[in-house]
Amino acid sequence: MKNRIIICLLALFTFQATAKEGMWIPYLLGQLNQAEMQEMGLEITADQIYSVNNSSIKDAIVHFGGGCTAELISSKGLLLTNHHCGYSQIQSHSTVEKNFLKNGFWAMSSKEELQNKGLTAAIVKFMKDVTNEVMEGLDDDMNLSERGEHIQNNIQAIIKLRSEESPFDFSIVPFFYGNQYILIAKETFKDVRLVGAPPSSIGKFGADTDNWVWPRHTGDFSIFRIYAGKDNKPAEYSEDNVPYNPNYHLKVNTNGVHDGDFNMVYGFPGTTQEYLPSNEVHNIAEVYNPARIDIRDRLLKILDKRMRTSEASRLKYASKYARISNSWKKWIGERNGLNESKGIERKQKFENEFLAAVNSKSSWRNEYGDVLDQLKKLYDDRRPAQLERYHYIEIGYYGIGLSRHMFRYRKLIEEAEKEDPELKSIADKLMEGMPKFHESYEPEIDREAMHQLLPIYIAAISDQDLTEELKMLKSLSDEEIHIYIDKLFEDLIFLKDPKKFAKLMSKKPKKAAKKIANSSAYKLSIEMYEHFRNVLNPRVSSLNEKIEFYQGRYLKALREVFPDKRFYPDANSTLRLAYGKVEPYHPKDGVTLNTKTYLSGVMQKYVPGDYEFDLPAKLLELYESKDYGVYGDDGKMPVCFIASNHTTGGNSGSPALNSRGELVGLNFDRAWEGTMSDLNYDERICRNIMVDVRYVLFIVDKFAGAGYLVDEMDLVHHVEAKVEEMDTTNP
Ligand code: ARG
Ligand code: ASP
Repeated sequence: MKNRIIICLLALFTFQATAKEGMWIPYLLGQLNQAEMQEMGLEITADQIYSVNNSSIKDAIVHFGGGCTAELISSKGLLLTNHHCGYSQIQSHSTVEKNFLKNGFWAMSSKEELQNKGLTAAIVKFMKDVTNEVMEGLDDDMNLSERGEHIQNNIQAIIKLRSEESPFDFSIVPFFYGNQYILIAKETFKDVRLVGAPPSSIGKFGADTDNWVWPRHTGDFSIFRIYAGKDNKPAEYSEDNVPYNPNYHLKVNTNGVHDGDFNMVYGFPGTTQEYLPSNEVHNIAEVYNPARIDIRDRLLKILDKRMRTSEASRLKYASKYARISNSWKKWIGERNGLNESKGIERKQKFENEFLAAVNSKSSWRNEYGDVLDQLKKLYDDRRPAQLERYHYIEIGYYGIGLSRHMFRYRKLIEEAEKEDPELKSIADKLMEGMPKFHESYEPEIDREAMHQLLPIYIAAISDQDLTEELKMLKSLSDEEIHIYIDKLFEDLIFLKDPKKFAKLMSKKPKKAAKKIANSSAYKLSIEMYEHFRNVLNPRVSSLNEKIEFYQGRYLKALREVFPDKRFYPDANSTLRLAYGKVEPYHPKDGVTLNTKTYLSGVMQKYVPGDYEFDLPAKLLELYESKDYGVYGDDGKMPVCFIASNHTTGGNSGSPALNSRGELVGLNFDRAWEGTMSDLNYDERICRNIMVDVRYVLFIVDKFAGAGYLVDEMDLVHHVEAKVEEMDTTNP
């Protein structure tokens, strides 16, 4: 008896070993995944997750602002997403007196909800394979550009026809590098109002230090509401609009999660690259990213040093720091994870299996024999120009603040040459934007950044096709470059004498334009950009066309030679379902990380007055009095948990659902050791991080006193019949 149990458990374990990777197309779940999901614990059907004819969970999943996910949690359009997804909206309503980022915001009635211009919430109505229609008329004589153009024309024609017949927004998206095309119909709502957000000390607790880190203690959520016209259809903002009544909204489960529970994440993952050949994974992890990491390292150190000593610098640079550090930290984790899990070797092994399979049949050998070699060669051919491009992106675009700022004068300078009578109004407009520029700019920081980064850029670009200023810089020694930089800053009129500059812009805009045009800062910025656009980009894009083509052939070959293997398409911002289990992981030898965190852990990280780890007094009080209401779990307040769902950027705000499809958490991040999941998923170490929905409810109700929002939701709590453990030793 004992032996049998052990054998069963082992069998289950090896089966699971292949189950969790993948972001699946919802309408194919019944065919591809349902059986496995049910075996893993799913208690509902694929049809309840995605259906076109009946209401299903899909109707509650929202593409939020095009970059995040959100979910409907009431019949009155209540929408849950991350704090970091609603960040710019919360910020846009904040002033010094009413700082909602700092203090949080809670509408206590619908009248107090805040309008957000430009924010959209899109819901998928249906998805349909249109590959044959898109491919129609393609012939083998076409070259790659002709193929591309033909496909685009077909796509436009199909969309046009569809749009004439129906009110939905249509798009056609390639899957598997153009082996498949799917038509997506969406309803896009345009009146989406802010309902509530916790203070950043909860919603962004741990900020950049804890970003990508498990164990985590962040209440990363915010709440919005979708409004519709009286007909319940999308409408522009109007006071007469009414809360949207969705076809389906999620039930909110307060049972919490347990190790081994089935879990799934439904949302709009942005980009993954799971089918790259091993050499390109190597290029990314060992060539491009180390260069990018090094540049960001330097920049972040400069910013951090200033931000720690000056409150003013911190205000100016906090959001830039967060933006730069997010990918920086991910890339470091990605590279470590690939090394630890031998990701590149695993890819190489897979490629050998592929080649063996291809060579086992002559028709495959004829058709696909050279695909992988060609693809690898193309990626390596692209490497030098691609590396230079990244140097521009990191240094010219993200790194040196001045370099982007100088573009703003381009129009002024061009129009000044044309003697444009509108010159004055162009100059006035530019000056209107100046306070905003100075709000997030410190010349000393930027000068230091330029000293560190410009020599790296100059060393990285090849001698070919350089223009005047760049050619000159390329001939200088590092020391001379530093002298050049100091002079560049000293000469720049709007930094040297802002008042004089403002006067010149308003009185003599033509002269001001000339002064800027002659500055080294302007010349350098424009030349760097033009070199990127006119020299580097064309070098890369001609290869990209071929790479896309060969990636497509490679995917076609993979699916043909491994007919029993299930392939999922790379993320492309379309609706997907990932599923896995709530389970711990071993980031390194001797270390196991548990699946759940609690409010006591928040308190352990608390540093009064710290800009990342401070806490609001009210939360401290609630912790002291253990006033968790129905949201607590055995006297403790759950905060976050992890599972082995395959997620990526864009999945932020996605609902984490239990085996019955009820909301148990809100996805917002991944564990650092497994961030390589974008290139190579490994279920041993890849974990997504979610806020426990009970923490969300607790903050809304007990912390913010907005319990009326909880009343709007459908809370469910299942009482399980307690099964006594059987004593098998003594029958
Ligand atoms: N790492 C998460 C994601 O990629 C959260 C980013 C927002 N938080 C931050 N501290 N920058 O989007
Ligand atoms: N934090 C990411 C997002 O904003 C999610 C992730 O990359 O895991 O979408």
